[in-house]
Amino acid sequence: MRYALISDVHGNYPALCAVLEDANSANINKYIFIGDYYMCFPYSNQVIEKIRNYPNSYAVRGNEEDRIEMLSKKDKSTWTDGQFQALYWYYNEITSENRKYLKELPRSAVIDEHLHAAHWSSEFIGNVEMEKFSTSRLQQRFGDRTPTKEDIITVILEILDSDATFNKRLSELDDGVYIFGHSHIQWHKQYGNKFFINPGSCGFPIDFSGGAPYTILEIENGVVSVDERRIMYDEDKCVNDLLNSSLYMHEKVWNDIIIKEFKAHSEVLMHFLMFVEDYANKINDKIRPYTKQTWAEAYSAWQQL
Ligand SMILES: [Fe+2]
Repeated sequence: MRYALISDVHGNYPALCAVLEDANSANINKYIFIGDYYMCFPYSNQVIEKIRNYPNSYAVRGNEEDRIEMLSKKDKSTWTDGQFQALYWYYNEITSENRKYLKELPRSAVIDEHLHAAHWSSEFIGNVEMEKFSTSRLQQRFGDRTPTKEDIITVILEILDSDATFNKRLSELDDGVYIFGHSHIQWHKQYGNKFFINPGSCGFPIDFSGGAPYTILEIENGVVSVDERRIMYDEDKCVNDLLNSSLYMHEKVWNDIIIKEFKAHSEVLMHFLMFVEDYANKINDKIRPYTKQTWAEAYSAWQQL
């Protein structure tokens, strides 16, 4: 049995199509989509409809799908101001049928008995990945040198091996394959008969490389093999489509940051959010979420750095 594991598409339809085209020529039996289907590029409905209707597929929800559920319960009249204009644009852009699909997605799934899928690695191994694997931390470790794939896996394994929570959870887990996304870093590791696989972010990788990552998992007569792939596609077209979209017109700051992060293939947004918080505190602005004015002023100041 061969599985294509695809996570964190983030609305990047060209990346999803490139991955599916590659997978279609790789004798895949089942497709597993691991959450975060929209947010970042203006092709949300195309991505959601492709995944919704994809044959032999399973899908779980991610944190972006949680946001759709959260927003659906909120008063829309409060959506006129503040930093979340991009999120509101996405909510309004996604059709009600697609929103319903996202809200009904399960948080986790067990497939073919031994395959466990959830967007968050914390479902299986505690918070170790999100707390300790960020690309900023990886970058700090390597200074001016861009970490290679080998560097990243070396650091991840050092962290896992020395993390008490991870080791406790590892000893408690049943044998099987545990699949998750969320960190946007592609990696995998075998511990005895337990396999941990993050296929990376198909549409928005921040593990210092471009392309569209996904992972092929093969289980044949109890033998598990993992093939990490990275498919090249037209990333410039995605950026240009975003720049020419009504989404960009609606919220320039957020999308400029997204474009910078997408091009850098490493964290930018997190640094900006820390800067905005400092900026707001300096001007004694206590309003959260940030007003459009504070959000835009902070971005101007950040660009001067
Ligand atoms: Fe994500």
